[in-house]
Parts: sequence; structure tokens; C-alpha cells
Amino acid sequence: MPGPRMAWDVERYEASHGYVWDYGAALLDLLAAGPGERVLDVGCGSGQLTSRIAEAGAAVVGIDASPNMIAQARINFPNLTFVLTDAAAYCAEAPFDAVFSNAALHWMKPPEAVAASIARALKTGGRFVAEFGGHGNVEAVAEGLRTCLGITRAAARNPWYFPSIGEYATLLDHAGLEVTAASLFERPTRVEGEGGLRDWLQMFAATFLEGLSAHARESLFVRMETLLSPAMYRDGAWQIDYRRLRVVAKKVA
Ligand code: BEZ
Repeated sequence: MPGPRMAWDVERYEASHGYVWDYGAALLDLLAAGPGERVLDVGCGSGQLTSRIAEAGAAVVGIDASPNMIAQARINFPNLTFVLTDAAAYCAEAPFDAVFSNAALHWMKPPEAVAASIARALKTGGRFVAEFGGHGNVEAVAEGLRTCLGITRAAARNPWYFPSIGEYATLLDHAGLEVTAASLFERPTRVEGEGGLRDWLQMFAATFLEGLSAHARESLFVRMETLLSPAMYRDGAWQIDYRRLRVVAKKVA
């Protein structure tokens, strides 16, 4: 998960946002890690998918820039290796057969430096398998935040990077990673309960809320719920407008 050294609320993350790693199962199939392989999990969060890669028999290293997430990953999976580092700064001790990343790269800037680091970590011919927020991801939520905070303030607080296929394929190509498959698809994500949107905002849009008084936060939540509920709230749950960019690439010499 996250890139910036933010104090992630791990308890809230593990209790209410398990869909982050549940959805990652399909990406694990695409990775198809096998016994004897070395795999790097970039943005591993609290380690759930890292442990699934280990269960497949691979030797896996999970990295994340959040101290809270790495601390929790070490508690959850004490036998696995987790490193606290920015992805862009990571220096592998030995090259990896594969680099994996689920729901994390949209937090990591600058993306060029992250791609260069991923390429450095891979063996020639090694694979990069990733999924994260693509162009247009959570756009209705972002639009609501622009409406509530103003365009300039919302832009200054926006931590996300949601590239198109073309933009990201070009970036990977420049890093020496040849794209062999890429897709951008809608994946509306169900967040349970009337309070689900404000819970999501507190978990994933915390930078937009920084510096707001408790009263101003409450007003923003109510306004966001009013703006978004006609399109997004039904049958007791919010459908957040996720769009995923899934990419597979190969390190070329
Ligand atoms: C995502 O997984 O696409 C995502 C999650 C939280 C905030 C922004 C994007």
C-alpha cells in the first residue's frame, strides 16, 4: 500500500478495508509465483498478499514506506521479511525474478523514480505485475472534494497518481520495462454502511482533511454524502468508482 511516510491507521485499515487484499487475489494468479523464485512486493501494507506469495513457495520481501504498516506486517507474519523504505530508494541485495504491487503505486511519487527502482530490482527477463488506480479512478470522489474544498486547495492536497495506459506504458518503457499486457477497467468497490464514505475518506483521503477543524470535517463529510449519495449509495452500501490499471511488463537488457 501507501508510499508517503504517513501515519496510516492500520487498525481501521485491517478492520474495514480487507477488500484491498481480497481484490488482489486475481493479481496473484497473474503473478503465478513459484517455489524457488525471489519476489519483491512493493507497497506491501500489513503483509496479507506478501504472505500469499510466500505460501506459493517464493522467497518474498515486502517493502512499504509506512512505519505503522511495516510494524503490523511484522506482527502479522513474523517469519517473513519486511523492509521500511520508499520504493524509489530501495536497493535490493540480490536481483528478483518478479516485482509485484497491488493497490499501492498510486501513492508513490515521482513514478519515474519508482519505475527505475523496480527495474533495478529485477533480473533481466524478470516480470513486473501490478495493479493500481488508473486514469479516472475515484473521479466522482475527487470531483466532490474539489467542490467542497475548492479546486486549488484540493489539487494541493491530492496525493494520488492515476495514469492512463499510454502514459504508464511510456514511463515503464523509459525505465527498461517492456509492457506485455495492460488494461484499464472499472471496478466499483462496495464500502458497507451509511458511514462507509466518511470512513473511506478518513482512511484514504486523509491529506484532504488535514488542518480542518472537527466541525469543518463533519461539514465536509455531510456535504460529500449529499453530493455523492444519489449516484453511489444503494442497498446500505457505497459504491466507490474505482478504475484499475493492471500491467504486466518484462525487464529488457
Ligand atoms: C485505490 O486503490 O485505487 C485507491 C484507494 C484509495 C484512494 C485512492 C485510490
